[in-house]
Amino acid sequence: MLAALVFLAALLVGCAASDTLPPVTYVIGISQANMREPWRLVLTRELQEEAAKHPEIRLVFVDATQDSDKQIKDIERLLGYGIDLLIVSPCDAKQLTPIISEVYQDIPVIVLDRVVEGYDYTLFIGPDNESIGKQAGEAIVNMAGGQAFSVLELRGGANSQASVSRSRGLEGVFARHPHIRTQVVVVENETRDAAEDIVASLDGQLADVDVIFAHNDYMALGAHRAIRNGPNAAKKIIGVDGFAGQDGGLELIRKGVIDETITSPTGGREAIQFSLDILKRVSGVPKQVILRSHNITEANIESYERSLDKAPRALTGPVRVGYAQVGTESGWRIANNSSIREAAIDFNVELTMIDANQVQGKQIEAVRTFIEQEMDVIVISPVIDSGWEPVLREAKRAGIPVLLSDRNISTGDDDLFLTYIGADFIEEGRRAMRWVEANVSPDKHPVRILELMGTIGATPTIERKAGFEAVLAENGSYSIVESISGDYTIEGGRRVVENYLRWNAWDIDVIFAHNDDMALGAIQALESAGIRPGEDVKIVSVDGTKRAIKAIIDGKLNCVVECNPFLGPQLMKAVTDLMSGKELPLRIITDEKVFTRENAEEELPGRSY
Ligand code: AHR
Repeated sequence: MLAALVFLAALLVGCAASDTLPPVTYVIGISQANMREPWRLVLTRELQEEAAKHPEIRLVFVDATQDSDKQIKDIERLLGYGIDLLIVSPCDAKQLTPIISEVYQDIPVIVLDRVVEGYDYTLFIGPDNESIGKQAGEAIVNMAGGQAFSVLELRGGANSQASVSRSRGLEGVFARHPHIRTQVVVVENETRDAAEDIVASLDGQLADVDVIFAHNDYMALGAHRAIRNGPNAAKKIIGVDGFAGQDGGLELIRKGVIDETITSPTGGREAIQFSLDILKRVSGVPKQVILRSHNITEANIESYERSLDKAPRALTGPVRVGYAQVGTESGWRIANNSSIREAAIDFNVELTMIDANQVQGKQIEAVRTFIEQEMDVIVISPVIDSGWEPVLREAKRAGIPVLLSDRNISTGDDDLFLTYIGADFIEEGRRAMRWVEANVSPDKHPVRILELMGTIGATPTIERKAGFEAVLAENGSYSIVESISGDYTIEGGRRVVENYLRWNAWDIDVIFAHNDDMALGAIQALESAGIRPGEDVKIVSVDGTKRAIKAIIDGKLNCVVECNPFLGPQLMKAVTDLMSGKELPLRIITDEKVFTRENAEEELPGRSY
């Protein structure tokens, strides 16, 4: 094997020197979990097809044959060949985490399909398996039409991260529909033949089953083969993957073998496109791209297939975008505003931005104005996460797509907006508490934390709190003594600390501020009271403004978890992609760092906000 790879690598370099091909600038190593599962074969093909469009790159594949130890060795070997970038689809995310984080110290790494632990990689691309389960669940609820219904679920083994997430999504839907019962059968190797044998062996128990949901189309095909000639032949079958080609989900739907499939994109094409951006150091590469899945049935298969073949349209004029912005409450927001305005110019977008001064009602009014003005696209950065359905339905009726930027919303109806571009606020909260745990020791007494929350009901507030508390819950030596909102402003942060001091003797070890502005306000209040910020009380905040990094250097703030405000280029790219007919991912999550006394000096000159 080694010899073969060395030969291959030499061949590639050889190609570069030939007269007929342009020189190879980048060699990308691809470590596949295996090259036998149909999903992975499609991934390999997509990687190759996309790479073929870019003569400056060459791919070197290695196959781990579903063995994590082998995959670790494969990756070490690829590194030995001096690859410029690694694309890895891990057999087992947990076991591969250490080697991936080691490689990431030297070269960029794109992880596909299974998220490794932590954030030590350049970019993750994959489907949202929980959403896939949810979409299957919703399809089953529709089939049931409110009647008692029974599901046979053919699930992968406990080690299959995708299967575990799909089941979680499915169960979430069924929890709201108690008339649906599920019987779960594990098909350890997730193959067509194993599924066929298992379903055939269930024979007598199938009479009551209304629908078989298999976690991939190949098991769905196996289930069909088991029942096709017997009394259960008419049972409905749903699969997952939705690939084209022989025995792919699309063909199975056309032949009436299965009734529905939920697409599970491989991300192969996107991996090559982003590899080039990363290698060419294009700015604004996200941290995670979560791909969209579709429910395909006989009714929509034609339009779905047409959409796959459709070439993007060239835009003939500027795209008109109405943006309902939160306000100008913080340094972060001001940088975010500039990023959006600048990117609009770069992408030929005619932007109308309305500042809602942190009032949801004003944002709703702004959206209605944009509908009247017949904007091409509406973007909202929602002040709070609830109460959006009515106005989003109005936009939908008017045929205007809505994108969410920076802040998300909670709604049972995911069809009301197209994509979310922003940060992983939960991870920001986790990172803040991880810093506290590692740096503030509970030696004398349990560590007492004052939490300065952002605007109540805003996604960053809800999720930063949730992430922080999730890590805190693992350790009984830390407790949040009070959580009060400072509304993301300097004034708000100062007020919370002043009020606390009015009613209490100072007994706080750590302040966790949901943003830098509130931390800066808290610092002012502490100094006025003769308490040394950063010394007598440790302060952790979120954002990464210049003033906050400066405060770290001055010893007044201890840690800042970055929240990236430069969403403009990714947003405007999404807007123009959408208008030229491309499909948008489900979520695009930005890349972020953590700043402490170790790296603040180095970071300060590069901070532009
Ligand atoms: O939604 C992002 C948050 O909003 C930022 O962290 C905060 O500073 C801003 O006001």
